[in-house]
Amino acid sequence: MFSKNRRTIATVALLLAAASAPALAQTASQPWLNPALTADERASFALAQMTNEEKLSLLFGYFATDFGADYKAPKAGRYGSAGYIPGIPRLGIPPQWETDAGIGVATQGGAAQKRERTALPSGMATTASWNPDTAFAGGRMIGSEARSSGFNVMLAGGVNLTRDPRNGRNFEYGGEDPLLAGTMVGAQIAGIQSNNIISTIKHYALNDLETERSIHDARINRGAARMSDLLAFQFGVERGNPGSVMCSYNKLNGDWACENKWLLTDVLRNDFGFRGYVMTDWGATHSTVKAAMAGLDQASGWPFDKEPYFREPLAKAVASGQLPEARLNEMVTRILRSMFSLGLVDHPVNEGGAIDLAAHAEVTRKDAEEGAVLLQNRGNILPLTSRAKRIVLIGGHADKGVLSGGGSSQTYAVGGNAVPGLDPKGWPGPVVYYPSSPLKAIQRLAPGATVTYIDGRDPAAAARAAARADVALVFANQWATESIDVSVVLPDNQDALIDAVAAANRNTIVVLQTGGPVLMPWKQRVAGILEAWYPGTAGGQAIANLLFGRVNPSGHLPVTFPISEAQLPRPVRPGTGLPAGQTFTIEHPEGAAVGYKWFDARGLQPLFPFGHGLSYTSFAMSGLTAAPGADGGATVSFTVRNTGKRRGAEVVQVYAAPANGGWEAPKRLAAFGKVDLAPGASKRLTLNVDPRLLAMFNEGTNSWDIAGGTYRFMLARSARDIGSTATLQLAPKSLPGSWRPVGVPGQPAGGTLGERGR
Ligand code: BGC
Repeated sequence: MFSKNRRTIATVALLLAAASAPALAQTASQPWLNPALTADERASFALAQMTNEEKLSLLFGYFATDFGADYKAPKAGRYGSAGYIPGIPRLGIPPQWETDAGIGVATQGGAAQKRERTALPSGMATTASWNPDTAFAGGRMIGSEARSSGFNVMLAGGVNLTRDPRNGRNFEYGGEDPLLAGTMVGAQIAGIQSNNIISTIKHYALNDLETERSIHDARINRGAARMSDLLAFQFGVERGNPGSVMCSYNKLNGDWACENKWLLTDVLRNDFGFRGYVMTDWGATHSTVKAAMAGLDQASGWPFDKEPYFREPLAKAVASGQLPEARLNEMVTRILRSMFSLGLVDHPVNEGGAIDLAAHAEVTRKDAEEGAVLLQNRGNILPLTSRAKRIVLIGGHADKGVLSGGGSSQTYAVGGNAVPGLDPKGWPGPVVYYPSSPLKAIQRLAPGATVTYIDGRDPAAAARAAARADVALVFANQWATESIDVSVVLPDNQDALIDAVAAANRNTIVVLQTGGPVLMPWKQRVAGILEAWYPGTAGGQAIANLLFGRVNPSGHLPVTFPISEAQLPRPVRPGTGLPAGQTFTIEHPEGAAVGYKWFDARGLQPLFPFGHGLSYTSFAMSGLTAAPGADGGATVSFTVRNTGKRRGAEVVQVYAAPANGGWEAPKRLAAFGKVDLAPGASKRLTLNVDPRLLAMFNEGTNSWDIAGGTYRFMLARSARDIGSTATLQLAPKSLPGSWRPVGVPGQPAGGTLGERGR
């Protein structure tokens, strides 16, 4: 209160000063355009000027691409993009130009003319770097391309947890752990928004399978949701401070996510303290008054909804008093507030800005290099050396380029599609390969070797070629896309291809490009496995640099790779065998025990555990200590040393476990860090453990309850490679459901933090 009054006094003084300066006369008469005021003050000044019609216009978004026979995109939209919401020129409020998504500036498949932009590796790949700085740098880069392309809202920030490796959109998200996913996605959002544009965290919430995503009903215990998917969103909101949240297609516990009061108001507003606006996914609005009263602020992407719920029906609901004027004003205020606080009004975007493609290629290449995970390296077959004189690349279109994930996030690269014409050509395709050829990159790095390519369609021919080579590199790909789920079995008989090649040459290395986990029945028969995910527009070069040791691998898995589907909480994917259009429920027997937590709780041995990743050097960790944290959590300190002969970066993981059990799983990831070290060098790290990660969420009392007792903190290289342990006694403690940390790292400092009421 005190600081608010001080702010008001300062504001009045400023306004008086402004009134005497002719140059500032305009901001005096239009105070909402005065950058010296807070976003809240500016939003309320602007709102006071607006007619009802103007207010309503901010709440209804249009698809910015022609659709079907009848729908024509608004002329003022950026054609081929996801969305457009008109501005209010007389008040200096710009339109909202919306573009997908998390790897770069996308173009909708329906648009003939594609924007050619830099694509980052998939969200899963960036998360596998375990380096928030890398996520931030990527976000800053794609956000700058969005700005230069005339967009001020980026629909990026997918943070749905990987509950099922068959989810077709896992590649867009941040893996299975709430701390890792929320931290990484939050960092990306902060990077995007550093361009004075809005980023949108999505899809809120529990949209963890694509099959019948717009009708299925995800059922989960609320407390379990708070400790898993919703905690990932909460960390993402705290670290990224996104201007908006996108609610998802599915129902949650029987209620559509976009009209679910518990989700949109009780949790998001009251507990997370989120102050931006909630937009729907494209076609996820189902009502007018119910949705608005539940906490929805903006309906997106007309004509995807059955009715224009937030246009005429909303106007009528306001006129008849069914929707209180106060709520209308609140919806508008939230949108305006994000536009002011994130710089959309003060720093207008324009189309046609310059893009430094060469510099951006470096950003995406580094991200790909840091996110690729060396899963297996028998006999140190990697890195390849000049002793490999005959190298054959097999399959995966490795002569042409690298694979990308499909759907609305599809970003098109300069140079077009390297492998055009693959099915499906239309939605949810096309299948796009970026023209970054692993073959050419490897040829450049191995000038003394004969490097050839064979397409792998005939396993026998591939085996013959492998038998003549010193090293066989099989490129095995799984295309994944929005709106359909995937199989965890590699498609097109690639398992048989790998088997045939491995039988012919024991120096077989598999390079995977997949959206998420796949099964590897051939694991014991190959020497090396590199998971490159979808590595983005410089992916070919990144893969070559890793294989040849120009770059030391440092990615670690953000997801558990199962041995078989029988190990999953839902061995058969829900919806399997049902006719299209039939709704079904997705039960969540695992609750908050997602991924490695499920495997730990059930005593299951994974194919590769969460957190796993190899390096060309070695590390030792020592000196672990744990102490109580200032906020009810803990701090852990330890030393990491590079004990090998190459420079390299290690991902250090700290897991926590209550000695007496009582959690959803034996242990949780409590903190992590990444350290880059020269050979022989060491560094001491201190990491904070958030108290919520030591608590159980109690739905009855809406609180985070930490049980008193002994806690173990374990230094680890993966969820199954645990080193030393430190113990700590914690007194019982209860934090309110609305508890939030002070000064969360990664949040923009200064005004924005203050305005968020922290
Ligand atoms: C997707 C969203 C996307 C939107 C706009 C939807 O189908 O689920 O992630 O942002 O389309 O393209």
